[in-house]
Amino acid sequence: MSSKILVTGGLGYIGSHTSVELIQQGFEIIIVDDLSNSNTDVLEGINKITGITPKFVNLDLRNKSDVNRLFENHQDLNGIIHFAASKAVGESVERPLDYYENNLSCLIYLLQAIENKGQEFSFIFSSSCTVYGQADELPITEQEPIKKAQSPYGNTKQIGEEILFDNTRSNELLKVISLRYFNPIGGHPSIKIGELPKGKPQNLVPFITQTAAGLHEIINVFGDDYPTRDGTCVRDYIHVVDLAKAHVVGLKRMMADEQIENFEVFNLGTGKGNTVLEVIKAFEKVSGVSLNYKIVDRRVGDIVAAFADTTKANKTLGWEAKSDLEEALKTAWEWEKKIRNIKPNISL
Ligand code: UD1
Repeated sequence: MSSKILVTGGLGYIGSHTSVELIQQGFEIIIVDDLSNSNTDVLEGINKITGITPKFVNLDLRNKSDVNRLFENHQDLNGIIHFAASKAVGESVERPLDYYENNLSCLIYLLQAIENKGQEFSFIFSSSCTVYGQADELPITEQEPIKKAQSPYGNTKQIGEEILFDNTRSNELLKVISLRYFNPIGGHPSIKIGELPKGKPQNLVPFITQTAAGLHEIINVFGDDYPTRDGTCVRDYIHVVDLAKAHVVGLKRMMADEQIENFEVFNLGTGKGNTVLEVIKAFEKVSGVSLNYKIVDRRVGDIVAAFADTTKANKTLGWEAKSDLEEALKTAWEWEKKIRNIKPNISL
């Protein structure tokens, strides 16, 4: 059976890397993106890597009639990878209604369009380890209880999973895999696509690479009095290409009818936790650039430590993260240098 896959948010950071993997695995894809946090140059990057420019539709999924029209125009769609969502934690606290509207109404309209088709359909949902909050047990398995969300953003991921679960019960033709990402970093090794944060980055790795490129004077390390090996927070940093590959494996699992249940969740991480200071040191090592940093107060809402138990994804999907922290950071730095027109360093 031929497969035509809709990739919502396919010009974004994780979406573009996944689009590349899908094309390389022979899937025909249609990218839908409203360009709110991306741009069409990404299509060129995808073409440079794969030799194919995917079909692109500039569309805001909050418009239900546009979503329905999209499905009418592409009757042969049989899968979705749904990345399109707002993702800034702080912004979600300031503008909760925008987050609930964007992250949930789009999901509902897509599911309604799928249900109206009345055919088998595979759905991959971009979830986050944020659903666990500060887990009681480390590493975090999928059995870890879901804690009350710390932010409207986190809540949209929890509610999104619940909506999908409920819909798999009412629509037996729907298959869902929810992927709970830990901390995606890095870019494509070809350096044709990478992360393009809008405004000042809130996440650690783009802030590090921008500081190394001279865009910021200093990195604020949020707290060094946590109960960890050096006092800074621990996270599981996973190379975005490893993450992208898991989506393709998940899609194939659903399409081959291999699921045990129609709604499945998987943690996607490396299984290894690193502190903020370890990330800074690893970056200095791979880039040869020394970074200015200072310890400041804790950031409100940060959890102490999160890293994945990836046994379920390893065993059930036959997937594992291949790149380590240094390899991932190297691609993040190469990408940053490219977009800032910094000459490559011979030692890299
Ligand atoms: C954050 C979100 C999470 C979201 C993820 C998406 C919060 C509380 N969590 O995760 O819900 O799914 O992004 O990628 O915002 N740090 C610094 N200095 C900086 C930036 C970060 O010390 O300038 C530290 C943070 O305190 C944290 C670590 O670096 O310990 C990683 O931070 P970040 O990249 O923002 O990711 P998370 O907070 O894990």
